[in-house]
Amino acid sequence: MPPLLDQIDKNNLPKHIAIIMDGNGRWAKEQGQDRLYGHYQGVESVKNIVEGCGEIGIEYLTLYAFSTENWDRPQYEVVGLMELLVNTIRKEVNELTKNNIKLHVIGDMNMLPEYALQELNEALEMTANNSGMHLIMALSYSGRWELLNAVKNIAHQVKTGKLNVEDIDQDTLQQFLSTSGLPDPELMIRTSGEFRISNFLLYQLAYAELYFTNVRWPDFRKENLYEAILDFQNRERRFGKTSDQVKVKEDR
Ligand code: FPP
Repeated sequence: MPPLLDQIDKNNLPKHIAIIMDGNGRWAKEQGQDRLYGHYQGVESVKNIVEGCGEIGIEYLTLYAFSTENWDRPQYEVVGLMELLVNTIRKEVNELTKNNIKLHVIGDMNMLPEYALQELNEALEMTANNSGMHLIMALSYSGRWELLNAVKNIAHQVKTGKLNVEDIDQDTLQQFLSTSGLPDPELMIRTSGEFRISNFLLYQLAYAELYFTNVRWPDFRKENLYEAILDFQNRERRFGKTSDQVKVKEDR
């Protein structure tokens, strides 16, 4: 069998991959370490996967780094995670630019501490003109927060006469999501053996292929990413149509 990377069809790549990076805490416990140690090791996986996605030509990569619900974790873990995220972004921003990667952040930025917000804004500015892969960090993000926020903003537009109720369609809704302008993910990967989407991109994952693996996030590497992409390439994506309809379209 050729190496996994060579088996991937470069003409049938998912344009956008989204990942729930789960299992850092369990991985750390299994090593007899503190949960934060798992998050630190998780950063190595982030670097490896960003690099791997860039190498094969994935255009958009979204990473679920911190959920709205994660604020309820013990204070030491919240503070530790926040610092890790900010320090990593600060440390890696030059590397991002060197690789022409454009950083985006989605989530409730009002929840972030001031220092984190400042660092993030700087990193966003520094990578704003990069034109290669888009790296989207979901930070203080949840799908329900995003939908509620969109509904409120749309209602405000209607109230102030800027939008007619009759004109609201799918495009309008998409414009008010934090992912406005980004294509929907075609492949969603969750590590560490949980079979849920946990409030992640609830609207955008409507037609995504879901891939679950038992590998814990700190152990997840390019080879695991290739396995997920190969699995994706073996699926039939029907978008509500029949198998025959899809095949006729492909044969044309
Ligand atoms: C889930 O594992 C992981 C998180 C809540 C944090 C993810 C963050 C990182 C990997 C650091 C990333 C850094 C950057 C720059 C993106 P868990 O704690 O829920 O694990 P468990 O389910 O085993 O407890």
